[in-house]
Amino acid sequence: MSANKIWGGRFEKGPASIMEDINVSIDFDKRLAEQDLAGSEAHAAMLAKTGILEKTDSDAIAEGLATIRAELAHGKFPFRREFEDIHMNVEARLTELIGEAAGRLHTARSRNDQVATDFRLWVREACGRIRAGLTALQTALVVLAEKHADVIMPGFTHMQPAQPVTFGHHCLAYVEMAERDKGRFADAQKRMNESPLGAAALAGTPFPIDRTMTAKALGFSGPMRNSLDAVSARDFALEFLADAAICSVHLSRLAEEIVLWSSPAYGFIRLSDAFSTGSSIMPQKRNPDAAELVRAKVGRVLGAFVGLLTVVKGLPLAYAKDLQEDKEPVFAAADALDLSLAALSGMLGDLTINPAAMMRAAEKGYPTATDLADWLVKNLKMPFRDAHSVAAKAVAKAESLNVGLKDVPLAELQSVEPRITKDVFAVLSLESSVAARTSFGGTAPSRVKEQIAHWKGQLP
Ligand code: ARG
Repeated sequence: MSANKIWGGRFEKGPASIMEDINVSIDFDKRLAEQDLAGSEAHAAMLAKTGILEKTDSDAIAEGLATIRAELAHGKFPFRREFEDIHMNVEARLTELIGEAAGRLHTARSRNDQVATDFRLWVREACGRIRAGLTALQTALVVLAEKHADVIMPGFTHMQPAQPVTFGHHCLAYVEMAERDKGRFADAQKRMNESPLGAAALAGTPFPIDRTMTAKALGFSGPMRNSLDAVSARDFALEFLADAAICSVHLSRLAEEIVLWSSPAYGFIRLSDAFSTGSSIMPQKRNPDAAELVRAKVGRVLGAFVGLLTVVKGLPLAYAKDLQEDKEPVFAAADALDLSLAALSGMLGDLTINPAAMMRAAEKGYPTATDLADWLVKNLKMPFRDAHSVAAKAVAKAESLNVGLKDVPLAELQSVEPRITKDVFAVLSLESSVAARTSFGGTAPSRVKEQIAHWKGQLP
């Protein structure tokens, strides 16, 4: 095989085929094509403006890049493994289109600053897209919360019945998580929004380039201040993956609840046909595959994060080919999140809830025992510790009578604590328990409705 036309000037022979196999990245970095073109357009315009390139050359380059843009848009661009990566594929195609002038585009730049720029642009866009996906998820959750603001369900701690809560309240908990996830992606997006372009291979360039101009053209806040850092930093990708890992962990928690709730043992929700799958052997099944897959995608996303951390660890400055391994984990994590978000929003938008099943479950496990203790504190001025003990005895009594707390006869309650009056029954129902929790952030429908109003004002 002949030597590489772009960098093979000092080589007599071409690469071994195994060398090509390990070196080639076009199969995946073709996803940077748009960004690579944008970077080249900005660079060419700057070379023209600063007089580094003659106008005839820069015009020819701009025209050639426009043709490539059209080829890409129509799926006509020839991605070729012999040209190794996206940068050289674009340059090779440009050469075919415009001839010699194409060779001038690489003045005052290197693939090292090019790839760092392209990848930042890609990850910046991914942050924006995921934030939008999270907003859509929040909207689906708020719609559900509003519809079912005062539907009562069991609230759990340790997966044991704890206190009744409202379904609306439960939905809004995930809206809060999604909001923090969005904040993390927005922070990362802002921090990564500096341009590496013009750092060249690692040390800068003697040409009188204008890095502020290219930074502006690409929507960056400005150029990165240190050329060594510019070509070797990948913390922007790591931060994206860290945020993606946290986000996918949140999504997996919601997905797990959907799996549990849709199981007949709970029966709290029914996924639509559109989001259920059947079994090839058991005719009765409605499986929540999409929720299970969202739950499982964390494996990939977390793997991507740990993988890239490991690639970057211990790498000396500046660029090393190790950094070519940065892209696939980021693409994989972004794809997993895009899909998970869309699947969750779809499932939530389409499911029906079963308030009676939630209520039945909420009645189990004496979830108003705390309300009884609170009543003793308020009405009999008992210290909470003593009230706790009295309420525990009342629970034991209810258990022995095989009834719920609100159905224990007054006389039985009085055998535990003689000062209890019939007024106590007013606080022992699920409705009163929920309605009483009016502290800020609490589960009372009145508070939940306030929060819904807050989110409706906040979300587009
Ligand atoms: N394909 C390379 C990457 O993804 C581009 C940079 C190559 N630079 C170099 N000096 N070989 O990292």
